[in-house]
Amino acid sequence: MWNYSEKVKDHFFNPRNAKVIADANAVGDVGSISCGDALRLMLQVNAETEVIEDAGFQTFGCGSAIASSSALTEMIIGKTLTEAKAISNQDIADFLDGLPPEKMHCSVMGQEALQAAIANFHGGVMTMKKAH
Ligand code: FES
Repeated sequence: MWNYSEKVKDHFFNPRNAKVIADANAVGDVGSISCGDALRLMLQVNAETEVIEDAGFQTFGCGSAIASSSALTEMIIGKTLTEAKAISNQDIADFLDGLPPEKMHCSVMGQEALQAAIANFHGGVMTMKKAH
């Protein structure tokens, strides 16, 4: 049994923004080659201000992936894309009061889904990336 923080458990058992955003204008899909899990991050971005007004996720992932995705949506709503782009997977783990070292790759998937969604918004092309 991994040693999870209370915050990780809270976001796992009560995930925030685990939802589909039907009219999302930025979507990032990533898969993790280390575990085979997948994550889709959907953003509703204000086209003029580039502020992320809403975020949702779906994942076929472990508890840490759910907690990381949930944390990520809370971290980015209200931020501009430029501000969100600066978020690292360590920031996600820190927001959750840490992740076990063996589970850090789950937060990488969140960070890479965010980068893919931002690229999707700018390029209009959905990118498929492989996380670690
Ligand atoms: Fe696959 Fe966590 S083990 S995302």
